[in-house]
Amino acid sequence: MNSDEIAAQLEFFRDIGVDSLAVGAVCDRPGAHRAPLQDLEDIRADIGDCQRCKLAPARTHIVFGSGNPNAELVFVGEAPGYDEDQQGLPFVGRAGQLLTKIIESINLKREDVYICNVLKCRPPENRNPEPDEVAACNPFLRRQLASIRPKIVCCLGTFAAQTVLQTASSISKLRGKFFDMDGIRVIATFHPAYLLRSPDKKREVWEDMKQIRAELFRLRS
Ligand code: URA
Repeated sequence: MNSDEIAAQLEFFRDIGVDSLAVGAVCDRPGAHRAPLQDLEDIRADIGDCQRCKLAPARTHIVFGSGNPNAELVFVGEAPGYDEDQQGLPFVGRAGQLLTKIIESINLKREDVYICNVLKCRPPENRNPEPDEVAACNPFLRRQLASIRPKIVCCLGTFAAQTVLQTASSISKLRGKFFDMDGIRVIATFHPAYLLRSPDKKREVWEDMKQIRAELFRLRS
């Protein structure tokens, strides 16, 4: 990394709310440049018994995320639904079962990837996330991504795509192509819950998954 790249990287960390770096711990170890900036456990601990937005009183569990903390591929959904709120785990209901099949379609297992949401708490009646809720939760998603440092982030549906890519474009315009976000390749596809209502859209999702598989191969080689 040259000094401009280091400055850009530090600015990125500042933007996502990281206010200190364990420089000794990062620099002393062999291969330490790949050490995560913050453990996911630290980020979860910072969320604590979150009361930062109006979703807190009605939630059963905070749904932080689950999977491989060193995943090459991260899926970001919208927000927990009923089952996720009950169990404290992302994508465990019907949409989650379909997501598992989607992951397996490119020869990966759920344990290989990391799965999380823009919002960590369930909106009442599964209504759409509101801007103040996204604003309160987004710093934690950014920190999760900075910790995992995946090769690819796949956004599931409109809210994840718009939040991660910081755009107001529709999912139909955003899906199916890669964007670059601070060195991470970001792609969006339709949300599995939408596929349950519109199964004819599965073909597009399969096209997007094939792109992810090819890009992972390319980035590994
Ligand atoms: N839908 C989402 O966006 N996330 C979940 O965890 C479950 C359903």
